[in-house]
Amino acid sequence: MNPDDQNPASTSAAPASPDPAGPETTLPVPASSPMFEQARGAGQLSGVPREAEQPLALRSTGKRAESAGRTPRKILVLGATSGIAEACIRLWAARGDALYLVARNPDRLAAVAADARTRGASSVGSAVANLDDTAGHPELLAHAINGMGGLDVAFLAMGVLGEQGQAERSFEATHAILHTNFTAPVSLLTWLANYAAQRHAGTLAVLSSVAGERGRRSNYVYGSSKAGLTAFVDGLRNRIDREGVRVMTIKPGPVKTAMTEAMKGREKFADVDAVAATLVKAIDKGKDVVYVPGIWRIIMAVIRAIPERVFKKLNL
Ligand SMILES: NC(=O)c1ccc[n+]([C@@H]2O[C@H](COP(=O)([O-])OP(=O)(O)OC[C@H]3O[C@@H](n4cnc5c(N)ncnc54)[C@H](OP(=O)(O)O)[C@@H]3O)[C@@H](O)[C@H]2O)c1
Repeated sequence: MNPDDQNPASTSAAPASPDPAGPETTLPVPASSPMFEQARGAGQLSGVPREAEQPLALRSTGKRAESAGRTPRKILVLGATSGIAEACIRLWAARGDALYLVARNPDRLAAVAADARTRGASSVGSAVANLDDTAGHPELLAHAINGMGGLDVAFLAMGVLGEQGQAERSFEATHAILHTNFTAPVSLLTWLANYAAQRHAGTLAVLSSVAGERGRRSNYVYGSSKAGLTAFVDGLRNRIDREGVRVMTIKPGPVKTAMTEAMKGREKFADVDAVAATLVKAIDKGKDVVYVPGIWRIIMAVIRAIPERVFKKLNL
């Protein structure tokens, strides 16, 4: 059993330095970490032991998945208390996949992990981490991959909506949104991509947003963070797809989760369990770009086609 099964490990709670030239850009590794040594300049998870480097040969005891004739997948969820992530975790657990869950709220993380065990996950590891702390990413990721003995899927679900009005008045508020939604995922993906590319295997599935497709007056700070993330993930896919790594850009429309709790018209938003069912299937297939619900592909094509001289007069 994974030692983390019962007690989520607190890997880091420190906020990231707001200094863009600060330590987070160099991804330092705590010298005390036996699991990970930084490959300076190479961005590689070099501390992952040899047995974990094999391309996804699983040794899990996932009874449900094995009895159903499929090998359980080793799935790392970053932002595991997100409404969308929780709904996916319920489906992965029910089919016996092996999970490693990372979130910053220890009580909610423990509840999600306990629920996943009850539903039948073949193993559930967990770690408490503030994912804004990019300096802690390499150790955290090595810990997760070591805990599962490999990695099939990394699902990046963390994100903040932020408060647009506050962001308009304060660069600090804007920076915090950009950091959580763009800089921190870029850090995680850089490490994960190099790990997966070395092994020519794995799927990196990233929750971006339709909000990143066009800047709107009502949420352009959040939208720009997702636009940057979409461009990064799309480019990453073009870099490492040929290495055998699937990189997925996921663009949900509005979904009923905590993030949208205060929004008008919420009753019309997508049901989170339906969204999760679509995502779990899409991740199995390793699709490139996923709009969920699918109608948002058409809606955004229309929105992108509106001329700017018209768009700037709309109250969107
Ligand atoms: N819901 C939508 O309509 C919608 C639409 C498009 C895209 N998305 C994207 O989908 C993803 C999941 O959103 P959701 O709808 O499931 O919203 P949610 O329930 O509010 O989940 C967001 C999650 O991100 C976590 N998080 C934020 N900052 C973090 C940090 N620094 N370290 C660790 N965890 C952090 C939150 O943890 P805490 O609870 O501890 O704060 C929460 O678990 C987000 O990236 C979001 O932008 C959502």
